[in-house]
Amino acid sequence: MKILMASSEAVPFAKTGGLADAVSALSLALAKIGHEIKIVLPRYYNINRSELTQLEGEMGVPVGGGEEWSAVYTTELPGSPKKNPVAVYFIDHEQFFGRDGIYGVPWEPDFLDNPRRFTFFCRAVFQVCRKIGWYPDVLHAHDWPAALVPVFLKYGEKQRDFSKTVSALTIHNLGYQGVYNKDNFHYTNLGWDVFYNAGFDDWNMMNFLKAGLNAADKLNTVSPNYARETQTSIHGFRLDGVLRYRSADYLGILNGIDTNVWNPQKDKFIPKTYGIKDMSGKADAKAALQETFGLPPNPDVPVVGMITRLTEQKGVGEVFGPAYGSAWSICRDMNLQVVLLGSGEPWCENEIKSLSYRLSNFKAHIGYSEKESHLIEAGSDFFLMPSRYEPCGLNQMYSLAYGTLPIVRNTGGLADTVQNFNEETGAGTGFMFDDLTPSAIYNTVGWAVWAYYNRRSQIEAMRITGMKHSFSWEKSAKKYIEMYEAACAVR
Ligand code: ADP
Ligand code: GLC
Repeated sequence: MKILMASSEAVPFAKTGGLADAVSALSLALAKIGHEIKIVLPRYYNINRSELTQLEGEMGVPVGGGEEWSAVYTTELPGSPKKNPVAVYFIDHEQFFGRDGIYGVPWEPDFLDNPRRFTFFCRAVFQVCRKIGWYPDVLHAHDWPAALVPVFLKYGEKQRDFSKTVSALTIHNLGYQGVYNKDNFHYTNLGWDVFYNAGFDDWNMMNFLKAGLNAADKLNTVSPNYARETQTSIHGFRLDGVLRYRSADYLGILNGIDTNVWNPQKDKFIPKTYGIKDMSGKADAKAALQETFGLPPNPDVPVVGMITRLTEQKGVGEVFGPAYGSAWSICRDMNLQVVLLGSGEPWCENEIKSLSYRLSNFKAHIGYSEKESHLIEAGSDFFLMPSRYEPCGLNQMYSLAYGTLPIVRNTGGLADTVQNFNEETGAGTGFMFDDLTPSAIYNTVGWAVWAYYNRRSQIEAMRITGMKHSFSWEKSAKKYIEMYEAACAVR
């Protein structure tokens, strides 16, 4: 099949979270099976044009009654199969993408012109196909920034030269929908009848994702449990009605992990690789982690790691909320060490900095570091992820692959990937709790620390169980193919 991925993020070019990992890894997995995959991305400022090849000539993109001119660059996705490489196309437009930040910058977290930028991007996807004379079987859009792709297909392009193309839309995070003043609607060049018929209308605002969910031939999200949860008012972010309406076309397909990058047997960022047969490298990683973060070197104390965007979704309020969160009492009462890598909301960054001055067993690096994220996954004994909601979550799967036991809330993809510890049988791969409260987090971390000191053989057995589990993309890629085929069948 010919499949085009439209996304605002894809590693290694642009990343703010798991979306970037998922888009590239899925593309590679599909290419390995033999499908023809192309990705279209904006050419953000940090993507160096001199490392790309420019296509000849410019391309006109109709937006807002006029036309925006843009150049197109291309390269191969690193890690592509030699015989069937994934091509990446970059849409180059100085005014829209020639600036720092993907969606915003700290002083302007959501750029004022985002509706215009991403309307332009979605339109440009079709123009790229025309320019290279390649019409895909499936246009696969990811999250709200690409959600107008299925809309443009249904209301216009399908009646033109995209008559044989179908669309799929993946929800990586329902918390972000692209809701803007409807004054921005004219950038789409669609009529006001379409505004209402396509379901753009959201209490008199314009909702990108809602329109995409109505227009796409097939929909999915990134775990079966989150697909169920999003059809309820608790987790539906006001779109549960739309998702229930489309439930016959809506699936949950679990993400995989890129086992070339996240694999303790070949990890380049850790001091010594390891595997089930010889776990000594894990102890080396723990020592290196303690040294890197300035914690007292001690192989016998449990280390709890966290790598996270510091935002409400991730449950950071219940961990770090001033005079409320559980971090202070966890570190004060328990014989453990905690390391954190993350960045995000300023209040949370400040609270974390303050805690790391006051507590000798809590150390944090505010920022983004690939190397340190690998070291934390490998060197920690436990990995804490108390998410408020979690469409899939990648870090808990990385943890399992590295023999690090996740401590997670029983929600979304976390519930699909972690099995709770059973003290009677020793079964399980991690520690789970239901309610997002500081005391539930305190108690569950306490339970894990208790097991570390008192049930050592069960802990070691759980590590092995987790490492044996396969979270490869192959299985998921096949499910995507089934979804594409189902969409094509009704075309
Ligand atoms: P989300 O996409 O909601 O943030 P995921 O668990 O799906 O959550 O993916 C997060 C990805 O971002 C992982 O690959 C994780 O390692 C990475 N990540 C998040 N914060 C950092 C950071 N500060 N440094 C390095 N990697 C990070
Ligand atoms: C989103 C979700 C996360 C998921 C990722 C990749 O960022 O928050 O749970 O793993 O997308 O699909």
